[in-house]
Amino acid sequence: MAKILKKSALCTGIWEFIVEAPSIASKARAGQFLIIRLHEKGERIPLTLADWDEGEGTITLVVQAVGKSTREMTERFGEGDEIRDVVGPLGTPSEIERYGTVVCVGGGVGIAPIYPIARALKSVGNRIVTIAGARRKDLLFWLDKLEGVSDELIVTTDDGSFGRKGVVTEPLKELLQAGGVDRIWAIGPAVMMKFCSLVAREFGVPIVVSLNPIMIDGTGMCGVCRVEVAGETKFACVDGPEFDGAQVNWDLLLARLAMYRDLEERALKAYLGTMEERV
Ligand SMILES: Cc1cc2nc3c(=O)[nH]c(=O)nc-3n(C[C@H](O)[C@H](O)[C@H](O)COP(=O)(O)OP(=O)(O)OC[C@H]3O[C@@H](n4cnc5c(N)ncnc54)[C@H](O)[C@@H]3O)c2cc1C
Ligand code: FES
Repeated sequence: MAKILKKSALCTGIWEFIVEAPSIASKARAGQFLIIRLHEKGERIPLTLADWDEGEGTITLVVQAVGKSTREMTERFGEGDEIRDVVGPLGTPSEIERYGTVVCVGGGVGIAPIYPIARALKSVGNRIVTIAGARRKDLLFWLDKLEGVSDELIVTTDDGSFGRKGVVTEPLKELLQAGGVDRIWAIGPAVMMKFCSLVAREFGVPIVVSLNPIMIDGTGMCGVCRVEVAGETKFACVDGPEFDGAQVNWDLLLARLAMYRDLEERALKAYLGTMEERV
């Protein structure tokens, strides 16, 4: 059981939860994630360790409401409630080294996981240029936190309602054309990471991405999170979630993400049905 100490709305459809979890906070490292189960009958879902405070014994989760479990968490769980299971930290931590200049790209809810990585990379002396992108202004969050760990922050929105109009690959390409970028980290929707990887490959700059396949156990047992990297099968939960973006089979990942759409829709409809009964 882990108690929710604070819940706040960050922007449209995205919430921040501060959760009591001292043993996780004391071991957390950038790039890692958790598997949570809201209640006895809940499904297991992966969420990134977006932030933590070892002294306070708390972890921060940032959740975008996209389907049954994330809607249930953001609509039915609040301060004082307890999450049934919180397992972690899981996954291989980010390889934090002094690379030189690192461009950190966060797209959509990917802004949350890119933050602790940018912070860790900055703390060992890298120059950090962060690109944060969203479809619209009301889907942006944590810009102040990103600014605090970046030497330069570029913000894009698809519709131009805040920052630069366009997608994150445009400033990324310009930075690579200008030269002097030693490494890229990109986290966001699979399609965004795919196109960042294509740009990085064009310029021969190494790129790390954090893959988001469907997961169940998060410990390498069920095989549902399998991805193909450099022609080999890897389990994102234990071999990743971070991989060399230039080597990922993106089409396979995108196809596997869509595999259970019917079941996901049915689960959401059943959940919304129980909401109606409550009204
Ligand atoms: C390592 C890892 C870390 C993650 N960290 C976060 C996080 O910090 N915050 C957050 O909001 N989400 C995060 N996710 C995604 C999150 O786990 C899914 O959004 C969640 O499992 C969806 O469950 P659901 O029942 O609400 O929706 P579902 O009904 O399962 O799915 C609804 C929609 O979301 C899509 N979807 C389902 N699973 C994923 C997935 N793994 N990635 C992307 N889209 C998915 C489906 O294709 C469908 O379109 C992470 C995923 C992974 C693998
Ligand atoms: S989630 Fe089961 S093997 Fe990775």
